[in-house]
Amino acid sequence: MIDAKTKICCIIGNPVEHSLSPQMHNAAFNKLGLNSVFVAIKVFNLQEAVRALKQLNFSAIVVTVPHKQEVMNYVDEIDPTAQKIGAVNIILNKHGILWATNTDWSGAMDSLKEKTIISGKTVAVIGAGGAARAVVYGLKQEKARVWIFNRTEKKAVELAKEFDLDKAFKLNETAKISEAEVIINTTSVGMEPGIGISPIPADIIRSNQTVFDIVYTPHKTKFLKSAKQRGANVVYGYKMVLYGGTRIFELMTDKKAPAKIMEKALKDNLL
Ligand code: ATR
Repeated sequence: MIDAKTKICCIIGNPVEHSLSPQMHNAAFNKLGLNSVFVAIKVFNLQEAVRALKQLNFSAIVVTVPHKQEVMNYVDEIDPTAQKIGAVNIILNKHGILWATNTDWSGAMDSLKEKTIISGKTVAVIGAGGAARAVVYGLKQEKARVWIFNRTEKKAVELAKEFDLDKAFKLNETAKISEAEVIINTTSVGMEPGIGISPIPADIIRSNQTVFDIVYTPHKTKFLKSAKQRGANVVYGYKMVLYGGTRIFELMTDKKAPAKIMEKALKDNLL
């Protein structure tokens, strides 16, 4: 029952209409009987929006594309992990102080660790943008050997230098991708308007590889469909939303997240 004491949480982004965070967190609030609600807000002027949410005493703000970097300018404190990654995806309002951190990296690692051991493995990361930074940070924490592949080689080289990665390649060096034990797509290739496009050719995927796509709309991307056909161990992108989301829920509530309920809410709404 929503009343005058209800804690209000939200996700901000633009676009935000397709976010599954409201279903996922409201299902968890209901399960635990918490007097909290989670809404989605499309934001145009980020600085003004953050100032308003603080004034209106929102208790937590989840941040999605394209605001994850810029919002760092408008919060009061940022934890060192998010600083290193260069992006935040959750802000807590701690008695008027906006404190921000990043759960994308741990969401990605929890998704992978459910299906394989990462420590000591050679991982091919495709992409060198913001999403790649969170994934690469996580892989380094897990002591993987990271090879980075990007359409623009210069960006791969820069990222490899910053995060002390093993090697950087241009994306068309597919023979090297084939040598890795794990392949992760961190680009938006495979999403609308490129549904049906894969970031790499299907025939380089081997049956003994683990293949993870952080794209989760559509649920079954061309890349993961190809990987499955090739007999690879597949990790779906919605798992990163789920495991990043369970951490966010625990930060918001200080309670253990009901992961099964959250997973069902997500899966019921996947396209
Ligand atoms: P995000 O924050 O979502 O990672 P980004 O920082 O703009 O977004 O990074 C997008 C990444 O996807 C980049 O690595 C980009 O490659 P370039 O550095 O060459 O631009 C990659 N990317 C986007 N579209 C791509 C495509 N059609 N083919 C290959 N890589 C693509």
